Amino acid sequence: MEKLPFNRPSMTGRELEYLTEAVNSSKLSGDGPFTERCHEWLEQTFESPALLTHSCTGALEMAAMLADLQPGDEVILPSYTFVSTANAVVLRGAVPVFVDIRKDTLNLDETLIEDAITPRTKAIIAVHYAGVCAEMDVINDIASKHNLFVIEDAAQAMLSTYKGRLAGTLSDFSAFSFHETKNILSGEGGALIVNNRSYLERAEILREKGTNRKKFFRGATDKYTWVDIGSSYLPSELVAAYLFAQLETAQDVTKYRIEVCNRYRESFSELSDEGLVGLPFCPENCVSNGHMFYIVLRTPGDRDRFIEKMSAEGVMTPFHYVPLHSSPAGTRFGKTHGSLENTDVLSSRLVRLPVYYGVKEHQDRIIEAVRKFFA
Ligand SMILES: Cc1ncc(COP(=O)(O)O)c(C=O)c1O
Repeated sequence: MEKLPFNRPSMTGRELEYLTEAVNSSKLSGDGPFTERCHEWLEQTFESPALLTHSCTGALEMAAMLADLQPGDEVILPSYTFVSTANAVVLRGAVPVFVDIRKDTLNLDETLIEDAITPRTKAIIAVHYAGVCAEMDVINDIASKHNLFVIEDAAQAMLSTYKGRLAGTLSDFSAFSFHETKNILSGEGGALIVNNRSYLERAEILREKGTNRKKFFRGATDKYTWVDIGSSYLPSELVAAYLFAQLETAQDVTKYRIEVCNRYRESFSELSDEGLVGLPFCPENCVSNGHMFYIVLRTPGDRDRFIEKMSAEGVMTPFHYVPLHSSPAGTRFGKTHGSLENTDVLSSRLVRLPVYYGVKEHQDRIIEAVRKFFA
């Protein structure tokens, strides 16, 4: 029996052609012609300056530096997220303050944020889980009332929208991921979108090891030198070449993934009506990019049995996330605000089904395996 992986990174266009072009150009380090083309694509799409990074993790670290987080500052974020969201804060000596998620979207519960704000709060990081945007208007209103930065962890939200506006345009700084598990991929990869343009020059410096090299190449200074903290956040041209081919097909890939998710949803609607599973929820004012399809089982035991049975049918259905607030590093570096019941309950019952470009030819088998479990 062929094993069906949870994810299979696929080429969707001219990846090999562009890789060959990059290799033959003898320009392999960062910020060459393919990086430029990716920047143009991102800037046209988001109507804001964009900087490619080696990962979303790197873009989040840059956002934390741009927000000028200092030791002891607090940042409000969900516990139900990938570690990089919190690590970016901790690396600055600041404290992640974990707030619970909504039961329906599994995004930061915007109604709990204001109560978690203290005189030390400096920023809010909203994660758009599964490509469904957090309630950004409310989050931005709270942030402007309390003079806080807003950062979007848009790792999973390329081309998702909120009230007709693209994820990634709804905050001061936003971070995307092009990791191989994402809709648009380059193995590892990411981007920082600098919506708050007054921070662009500093962002360029942080990305180039704390130097004003970018300004020098633009001819705006006669030498380049060390001017600030920073690190090496730019990807090589090989990564950018692969990524540009993916970006060119982004609309088609998104459409495909939405169709895959819609098919799962239709197939499991009866199970949901019978109360056997919970399905992803997308508020009316949001459009998801089909990044993920998950199901929520009734108990942690059901979830474990489901994973085991699906595996016996050759279908990989991993769970995530182990909540950050109760993890060894989370208890050491972070603080918890209020009950995190939804985080604890949902993270113990959720599994993800395979969604990737090319999965349609296997979808009958996956759906059949799920139905068999519940039969
Ligand atoms: C919500 C979230 N944030 C951050 C990341 C980190 O992305 P990267 O692997 O590109 O650093 C991920 C990756 O899975 C993610 O899902």
